[in-house]
Amino acid sequence: MILVTGGAGFIGANFVLDWLAQSDEAIVNLDKLTYAGNRENLSSLAGDPRHIFVHGDIGDAALTSQLLARHQPRAIVNFAAESHVDRSIHGPEDFIQTNIVGSFHLLEATRGYWGSLPDEAQRRFRFLHVSTDEVYGSLARDEPAFSELHRYEPNSPYSASKAASDHLVRAYHHTYGLPVLTTNCSNNYGPYHFPEKLIPLVIVNALAGKPLPVYGDGQQIRDWLYVRDHCSAIRRVLDAGRPGETYNIGGWNEKPNLDIVHTVCLLLDELRARGDGKPYRDQIVYVADRPGHDRRYAIDARKIESELGWRPAETFASGIRKTVQWYLENQDWVRNVQSGAYREWVEKNYQGRDQ
Ligand code: NAD
Ligand code: TYD
Repeated sequence: MILVTGGAGFIGANFVLDWLAQSDEAIVNLDKLTYAGNRENLSSLAGDPRHIFVHGDIGDAALTSQLLARHQPRAIVNFAAESHVDRSIHGPEDFIQTNIVGSFHLLEATRGYWGSLPDEAQRRFRFLHVSTDEVYGSLARDEPAFSELHRYEPNSPYSASKAASDHLVRAYHHTYGLPVLTTNCSNNYGPYHFPEKLIPLVIVNALAGKPLPVYGDGQQIRDWLYVRDHCSAIRRVLDAGRPGETYNIGGWNEKPNLDIVHTVCLLLDELRARGDGKPYRDQIVYVADRPGHDRRYAIDARKIESELGWRPAETFASGIRKTVQWYLENQDWVRNVQSGAYREWVEKNYQGRDQ
């Protein structure tokens, strides 16, 4: 079996669902269930003995050591993190606690467990750390995309905390020989994406007749990857990646934010037109920019493509259509995640920001 952390969040839940759709290898899923963790994402697995959910913190070394000793996983995939840049600007402390201190405790528990394994199991064991392209900082328009050799230049408390965890993972390989793999992925989108991030926020606000907030001039560029393509890349790295290596994962889909918002609006015009016949883009409003906003991210995915033969299955056009359709078909899920805590966040982030 494998141990997944953060498997009730956006990418983790997609990973768990995809994994169990393709294999009978069981998963222990350790998740703290922060505001971003949602057991409803996994409701289709209710009663499935291949999925063991544990409510807990990666920073609880006693708990993780006990889970490792009891379940003897052959691998750990570490998704657990505080993941939202805007939240890291309003309150960085949770990011330091989970992304840095939590990852450290998880690594320590893993080192203890791994050290106790027989030689063959030790050789086959993997610790896969899921990270982000944001650790590389921001690119100018004409600069080449981030390769694995790009220097780390994190600019937000979120990316700095992820960079620190990447460094710890690297150090555990070089110092202790722990067989680690690190993946640095671009922006994901798809089902179960919490509606505080750009794409689900735009879908949810558009349908509710609310403003679609575009930060600054909307010309910041992100490199979008459909979440299930990210999951297939992680499975591939887990199977065939070389311990100690890092792999950048991206979809060759660089797009300015404003184009993303326009694309979502056009799809909604087609699939769920507004009652008054007007286009959803009329709801776009420009709001004050994010402090320290990175201008451009772009992933050079040639290493994972040439070494491991991985390629994304979706184009942006096919992935974004599937995503918009999923949100239209899962309005109950949307309603359930918009709790009081969600509404408080929206007020905190957008109040007084109108331009
Ligand atoms: P998310 O915020 O949707 O989910 C994070 C999950 O981790 C939640 O279920 C939460 O409850 C859990 N968690 C948080 N703190 C925990 C702790 N201390 N112990 C145990 N569980 C804890 O995030 P996501 O978008 O699914 O991202 C998953 C991982 O992928 C993160 O490490 C993130 O940095 C990375 N990543 C995300 C993106 C993206 O576009 N979303 C892109 C590249 C990399
Ligand atoms: P986000 O989904 O928060 O991901 P990240 O900051 O990790 O890239 O934001 C994606 C881009 O969209 C980013 O450049 C910020 C921008 N953005 C807006 O313009 N308006 C919004 O309301 C949000 C949430 C994001």
